[in-house]
Amino acid sequence: MAVLQDGGSDSVEVRKRVLNLGAGESATGDVRFDISRHGRPDVQGTAAELPFTANAFDQVVADQVLEHLSSEQVIATLNEVHRVLRPGGRFEIYVPHADSRLSQQDPTHRSTWTYRTVDYFTDGNFAWYFENEPFEFTLAEREVNVWVHPERPFSGIRSKEIQLRHRLFGTEDEYAFESDVDASLRFILQKPPEK
Ligand SMILES: C[S@@+](CC[C@H](N)C(=O)[O-])C[C@H]1O[C@@H](n2cnc3c(N)ncnc32)[C@H](O)[C@@H]1O
Repeated sequence: MAVLQDGGSDSVEVRKRVLNLGAGESATGDVRFDISRHGRPDVQGTAAELPFTANAFDQVVADQVLEHLSSEQVIATLNEVHRVLRPGGRFEIYVPHADSRLSQQDPTHRSTWTYRTVDYFTDGNFAWYFENEPFEFTLAEREVNVWVHPERPFSGIRSKEIQLRHRLFGTEDEYAFESDVDASLRFILQKPPEK
């Protein structure tokens, strides 16, 4: 992924360093990392102990991965992602909503997520639960995506299948889902910029 710095005729293209955590078969990112060899990752290991130096990445993406970790592993992973992100860097998370079939059907899922779960991991109401952990994140974005074609979730043409997209910034709303829809959450956590 490249970003263009706006410098008029002196513009320079600067590459963002992106870590794909739990990449599976996805080609996204500069470093594809996974606990399994299945998708031929660049680096193999567990998200709870990342073999990278501090501040190594501008962005970390975990797409349908954190629900496979226990709560304890999620906390260890948040500490590690915080360490390897540069100040101001972003952690983009996609997880199935706990009320959806996507969350409930998979026997390898070990943690559940709702719209409110990130309030425990960021500057939300429950931030003090983990006040002794090293990680510190602010919540930059959160949204719920609902699919009304549940037979073909994550088919690779995701954007065309989103029939209903709710952006819930700053509201108190929580969603209840019909049994025939699938729902996924997207969060962006930001490591605070250097003071
Ligand atoms: C449902 S797949 C998602 C793959 C890919 N991100 C995508 O969107 O297609 C979950 C991936 O997380 C990986 N994974 C599970 N636990 C992990 C861990 N502790 N550390 C790193 N990767 C893990 C699995 O091996 C698997 O490739």
